[in-house]
Amino acid sequence: MGSTNQPTILVTGGAGYIGSHAVLSLQQAGYEVLVLDNLVYGHRELVEDVLKAELIVGEIGDRLLLDQIFASRTIDAVMHFAAYAYVGESVKEPAKYYRNNVVGTLTLLEAMHAAGINKLVFSSTCATYGIPSVVPIPEDYPQNPINPYGATKLMIERVLKDFGVAYGLQSVIFRYFNAAGADPDGRLGEDHNPETHLIPLVLQTALGLRDAIQVFGTDYPTPDGTCIRDYIHVTDLASAHVLGLEYLLNGGGSNIFNLGNGSGFSVKEVIEAARQITGRDIPVKACDRRPGDPPALIGSADRARQILGWQPQYNRIDDIISHAWAWHLKRHGSTLVAS
Ligand SMILES: NC(=O)c1ccc[n+]([C@@H]2O[C@H](COP(=O)([O-])OP(=O)(O)OC[C@H]3O[C@@H](n4cnc5c(N)ncnc54)[C@H](O)[C@@H]3O)[C@@H](O)[C@H]2O)c1
Repeated sequence: MGSTNQPTILVTGGAGYIGSHAVLSLQQAGYEVLVLDNLVYGHRELVEDVLKAELIVGEIGDRLLLDQIFASRTIDAVMHFAAYAYVGESVKEPAKYYRNNVVGTLTLLEAMHAAGINKLVFSSTCATYGIPSVVPIPEDYPQNPINPYGATKLMIERVLKDFGVAYGLQSVIFRYFNAAGADPDGRLGEDHNPETHLIPLVLQTALGLRDAIQVFGTDYPTPDGTCIRDYIHVTDLASAHVLGLEYLLNGGGSNIFNLGNGSGFSVKEVIEAARQITGRDIPVKACDRRPGDPPALIGSADRARQILGWQPQYNRIDDIISHAWAWHLKRHGSTLVAS
């Protein structure tokens, strides 16, 4: 336990988008938090100035550093967000992804085992399902990733299963659908560079930072011809992580949960909702389909609701976009283009 007798949680990737929101939820639930992030994509100021959490700048693959952290602190559990997560880049540079997401995570798991830490919450992804033929997708749907990024996450899922059997590691694996939105109180938000996610790209277009939003494929077998995705508010993801952690701290065994909304929105619906919320022009550029984009990806999160008692608060796409918009205005300034 930490100095305040609250459990201390090591959050890898806690300077990133989802990790920083999880740190906030952990702090609000009374946990001590230690962040480990190499700051390749993370933001120091979010951890140090906004969250006022302790930040160790370093690598999950640095065994010496991990041994030092685990020897000098009592860590009760690890939440592991640190990874590279650009699907396209993973196809072009698979070595970078296997090195970081697989080898780095394996080093972290070995260090945890050596230090006797046996509770882990892991960020997996709906990309492990590949191109599913049913929606909503349940957790027992066969996994068949179609890119190296998804493959790295599936490999770690397998490693966690084997570490559980051999070493008693208890893990909660969360397979997220599309994380979106921002802290409703405006403290944190999505700030990827480069950005590849639809909602921030749409909002950057509304701000005039991009000429047009590219829509990849308008001839899919969906009601309006554009792809349908399941957007889950990042604050709801964060609350699920606290519940997953508490499930483990209370003696729960390893488990796997989808985290999604259970309903989907098309690209056109997201753009139209963003036009309404921002009141700004959002030019669209229709482009060819991208290889490997399924028409619809929607997750069933019934298991998380039933076993963890998870109740997402922000199911409406309008809430997700409004919170993201408030963050974008704060981050990029509201005077970039006349509204
Ligand atoms: N954003 C999504 O929609 C989504 C969906 C499914 C799964 N995920 C997974 O959730 C996790 C968090 O995603 P995110 O969107 O917050 O990404 P992010 O890039 O904002 O956060 C990841 C953080 O990990 C850090 N990091 C990366 N490699 C590291 C290393 N070797 N050592 C230490 N720190 C390292 C980065 O600097 C960054 O701060 C990732 O594991 C990602 O694969 C994200």
